[in-house]
Amino acid sequence: MKNEDNIFVFDNKEGVADFAVTQWIEISSQAIADKGSFTAALSGGKTPVEFYKRLAASRDTPSWDRTHLFLADERFVPPSHNESNYGLIKSHLLSHVKIPDDNVHRIQTEEITLEESARRYEEDISRFFGHRGDAMPRFDLIMLGIGEDGHTASLFPGKVSLKERTRLAIPVTTNKSPHERITLTLPVINNARNIMFLVSGRDKAKVLKQIVEGKKSSLPASRVYLERGMMYLMVDQPAASLLSGRKMGQ
Ligand code: 6PG
Repeated sequence: MKNEDNIFVFDNKEGVADFAVTQWIEISSQAIADKGSFTAALSGGKTPVEFYKRLAASRDTPSWDRTHLFLADERFVPPSHNESNYGLIKSHLLSHVKIPDDNVHRIQTEEITLEESARRYEEDISRFFGHRGDAMPRFDLIMLGIGEDGHTASLFPGKVSLKERTRLAIPVTTNKSPHERITLTLPVINNARNIMFLVSGRDKAKVLKQIVEGKKSSLPASRVYLERGMMYLMVDQPAASLLSGRKMGQ
C-alpha cells in the first residue's frame, strides 16, 4: 500500500460515510461520462453500512441503470442469512434504489459447491468485462474494509490465496471465519481504477498503524497497491488514533 497522500480522517464513521458518498458520485459520474457505465465491487462488514444507507438516500447519484455492482467478497451462506454480504447490501442499498436486477452481480451460494460458485462468479465477471487471457478486469471502483488481523476482502494473512496470480475469484476456507468465503483476488483488486478503504473504530488503530507506517508489512491490506489508479483510505478518528501527526481531513 502506498497511501501517504490519500488518507482522509474524519470525526466519526458518519463523516467517513459522507465523504465516501461524495467520492462515489464523482467517480461514477466520471466513469459514465467517459464510457457509458460504472462498475463497482462492494464489501460487507459493519463499517460500510452507514455508507450504503447514505448512498441509498443521496439525490445526486447518477443513473443506477448504468451502474453495475459486484461483490469484493462473500460469505458462503444464503442471501437471507444475517452474515450474507449480498443480504446486507440489499437491505441497506439495493432495496432503496432503482437498479435493474441484471446490473447486480451477486455470488451464488445456494445449491452449489464453493468451488463451482467461485468459477461461476469468475465467468460472470469475464463475460461482463470481456476478459481474455491474462488481462485482468478493470473495475472503476472497489470498496474494501480492513479486519483487525489485516485482512481485506476475504484475503487473510498467511494464506495461499494471496499468491493467486491468474484467477479472478477464488474459494477461501479459513479458521478466521465461521463460514467459507469467495473473494476477488489481488490481481483484480490491484487493477482497479479506484480503491476506497473504509476503516472505523478503535479496534482497527493498531493494524492501521502497521499498514500505513510499517515499512515491511506483508499483511493482505498492505498488498493492495495500484500501479495506475487512485487509492483512498477513509478512516475515523478512533481508527486513526495511533497514526503519527494526522490532522482531521488530511
Ligand atoms: C467481509 C469483508 C471484510 C471486511 C473487514 C472489515 O465480508 O467481512 O468484506 O473484508 O471488510 O472484515 O469489516 P468491518 O467493517 O466490520 O470492520
